[in-house]
Amino acid sequence: MSITETITIKESLKFSSEIPFYKPIDREVEVFRHAFKNKLPILLKGPTGTGKTRFVDYMAHQLEQPLITVSCHEETSSTDLIGRYIIKGTETIWVDGPLTTAVKEGAILYLDEIAEARPDVVVAIHSLTDHRKELYIDKLGITVKAHPDFMLVASFNPGYQKGFKELKPSTRQRFVALSFQYPTAKDETEIVAAETGLDKDTSKKLVNIANKIRNLTELGLTETVSTRLLVDAAMLINSGLPKRLSVKVAVVEPLTDDVEITQALTDLCDLMI
Ligand SMILES: Nc1ncnc2c1ncn2[C@@H]1O[C@H](COP(=O)(O)OP(=O)(O)O)[C@@H](O)[C@H]1O
Ligand SMILES: [Mg+2]
Repeated sequence: MSITETITIKESLKFSSEIPFYKPIDREVEVFRHAFKNKLPILLKGPTGTGKTRFVDYMAHQLEQPLITVSCHEETSSTDLIGRYIIKGTETIWVDGPLTTAVKEGAILYLDEIAEARPDVVVAIHSLTDHRKELYIDKLGITVKAHPDFMLVASFNPGYQKGFKELKPSTRQRFVALSFQYPTAKDETEIVAAETGLDKDTSKKLVNIANKIRNLTELGLTETVSTRLLVDAAMLINSGLPKRLSVKVAVVEPLTDDVEITQALTDLCDLMI
């Protein structure tokens, strides 16, 4: 990401739309504020669809800080974060990566699904997550001191592909950590209704379905119903798609490819909405 793009980020933030809707579940807002004040990196732990990304977006708005998000995957390397030389015409020019941009300009850098990234990513952020608060750019042979407003946030899904993508204890201990879980039925009903405009009664039914399926641990689903799936179902219902069909396509089908389980879950949901 180039400097010009960062300016766009800062500019867009100034004029940006209203604060995204986020319903605090516990004391995460307070924790984040204090972490930001003390420049402590934060690790958001929790299954997919529990509001981690939304929370970071909300906090960036609350603190009036630019936010740069990197969705990590198996190929994400430290070069992608720090920067690289590119050839432009007859010249070779250096282009800062998102991490370098955030460090220099003072932005919140959100490394979504950090455990997915290559191990050198974790090495690259080491000196930023301790008292040094600096970034070493080996290709340029320079060290950059972090801007006072720089903050590192990472997310991590502990249940995902058990045993595979774990985060080493030595890495985890560099962060203040917050756990995200599925909200209580009351909170989740409010989230679904507020997010989509669906009536409370139907929103509650969707939440009941979710909790029923979440408790069916014997199905051995790798991931269970997230708030995101409920929000999707609620949007479809709201736009006029029949309720049962909405639940089938937004909640049941994304969860499993097993024909029998799909049928059993569909039958169960049909009884509940
Ligand atoms: N506490 C919350 N407040 C508002 N919306 C939420 C909350 N938790 C979940 N959501 C809804 O669920 C969707 C998925 O959340 P997201 O932040 O993308 O999850 P994650 O990053 O944990 O996978 C959001 O787009 C939003 O609609
Ligand atoms: Mg996310």
